[in-house]
Amino acid sequence: MEMLSRASRTISIGTHTATEVNMMTTMFWILWFFIAFVVVLVALTLRQESSDMPRREILRAVESTGKMGFAERLFLWVFSWLDTRFRLQDYWNMSKGAYYNMHRQMPLSHAEKYKLRIIWYWYPLYCLGGISFLSFIILVVTGTVLGIYYVPGGEGDPSPAYASMQFIMTELPFGYIIRAVHHWCTHFMVASVFLHMCRVYFTGAYRNPRELNWLIGVALMALTIVFGYSGYLLPWDSLAYGAAVIGINLANSSPLVGKYIATLLFSGSSLTARTVTRMYFIHVFILPVIVTTLIIIHLFIVWVQGIAEPH
Ligand code: HEM
Repeated sequence: MEMLSRASRTISIGTHTATEVNMMTTMFWILWFFIAFVVVLVALTLRQESSDMPRREILRAVESTGKMGFAERLFLWVFSWLDTRFRLQDYWNMSKGAYYNMHRQMPLSHAEKYKLRIIWYWYPLYCLGGISFLSFIILVVTGTVLGIYYVPGGEGDPSPAYASMQFIMTELPFGYIIRAVHHWCTHFMVASVFLHMCRVYFTGAYRNPRELNWLIGVALMALTIVFGYSGYLLPWDSLAYGAAVIGINLANSSPLVGKYIATLLFSGSSLTARTVTRMYFIHVFILPVIVTTLIIIHLFIVWVQGIAEPH
């Protein structure tokens, strides 16, 4: 009998002996006990957490109200699902705290100090920056249309530049309107940028913490004028030629660097057919890139610092 039972214990199941099978059974149960233990532990922890966490209130609100539409319920459910996993509300509150800490150092604006609501029509002069920006946008759009038909060549009589302007003015449908809008918007922009600068100066808005934005503004004022000048030369008519003569003489008569400036801006120390091409490149590529970048930085700083209303 004893012999039989020993024999049965050593009987193999498949490739495993009975001892191995017993061990595997024991391990199987240990593993399942461990998994069950972890599951119970996690469930208890989550239960504890869920009763502690105020964010569960969102879920409760979703469940308790019967008036919400499907979209609202879905949104709140998704939000609370994400919030319980990624602590969205905590990070949102943290970043809000950091934002207010940063801004505590800024001087209080007029509106903040006297708890006023900002009403723009009280302060029309505060729109001049916005008007400058709007003019710039209109100039970019109309300039792009003109650029399709304009030919930047100064050789010959009439030069391709002049001939293409004639085409735009007399043959291209709405061409003269587009050119007029571009022309008048330039005047408008130069005036509004200048008046905007005066407003900033007379309200003392250039002071701490806005010094950097004032300096960026100074660069923008200068570049706006260069924009206007380079555009004025493009038709290559007698007005343009006259302005180019004045410009190149100014550059040539500057001490030390004059010759280099003339070469850089006018493509030589005397006027040639290449001057128009050089001005075209400055007008439609170099200046737009620099001015657009500076305007973005300028407006970003205004957004971060807020506007200094009168105190
Ligand atoms: C392309 C030219 C420019 C554009 C598009 C522009 C745009 C703006 C805008 C939209 C604002 C918000 C407040 C407002 O509209 O008055 C602003 C504020 C400001 N700008 Fe300009 N700006 C330009 C040129 C200048 C110039 C030439 C200066 C000075 C040299 C300047 C200095 C400032 C300063 C210091 C502020 C902050 C003022 C405050 O907080 O009250 N900007 N700019």
